[in-house]
Amino acid sequence: MSDRTTKILILFYSRYGNTVKMAEEIAYGAKEISHVSATLRRIADDVPMDVVSQNPEWSKVVEDMNDRYPTSEIDTIIQEMPMYDAIIFGSPTRFGNMAAPLKALWDRTSKLWMEGSLIGKIGAVFTGAASVHGGQETTAISMMFPMFHHGMIIVGVPYSVPELTQSGSPYGPSRIVGPMANKAINDEDIKVARALGKRVAQISQKINAA
Ligand SMILES: Cc1cc2nc3c(=O)[nH]c(=O)nc-3n(C[C@H](O)[C@H](O)[C@H](O)COP(=O)(O)O)c2cc1C
Repeated sequence: MSDRTTKILILFYSRYGNTVKMAEEIAYGAKEISHVSATLRRIADDVPMDVVSQNPEWSKVVEDMNDRYPTSEIDTIIQEMPMYDAIIFGSPTRFGNMAAPLKALWDRTSKLWMEGSLIGKIGAVFTGAASVHGGQETTAISMMFPMFHHGMIIVGVPYSVPELTQSGSPYGPSRIVGPMANKAINDEDIKVARALGKRVAQISQKINAA
């Protein structure tokens, strides 16, 4: 096994903080493997702060996210993407699809696509939704489309992870956040999220060593 650090980017967008929690758990899972680094990058919301600040609970969540994960400019993230061995994308479910800020990032990656900069990199996805059949699976799968176009190698969660019967899907970790987006993350959610992080780390390392 090479001593080179395998670099994983966990790139996410979150409005109410749930996707952040998932990103953190995925990072913990990745870092269970030695010689692996996990970097979290957050994409800005399209809702202005004066709207957020009308709701004290929401403000608190957003201020906490801003403190811990200041947002990165889309262009900066795009420049950084080729430096990673694996990229794990996280988005809340929005009408059964990824959120607009994440789609906006993909829509600015033509240069990466033309140069083939992401070909052969490992990719994975995670999401959350208000309701059980609210479109978690369609969101996870639709998040994969641009990754396939970029030539990435997609990794999901196998059923050897027992908690997968209670949380997430083979397409990636996902959790039910409830209609107010305030349902606490549970043990099964955490285990599936960590399993994905660990699996992406292991597979990325194998590919680096090949
Ligand atoms: C515009 C919009 C569309 C949404 N569409 C769906 C949906 O199709 N299905 C669903 O279950 N939840 C839906 N939700 C709920 C979000 O998925 C939920 O609030 C999100 O997963 C919370 O993640 P966050 O805390 O990281 O923002 C929607 C929320 C918004 C604001």
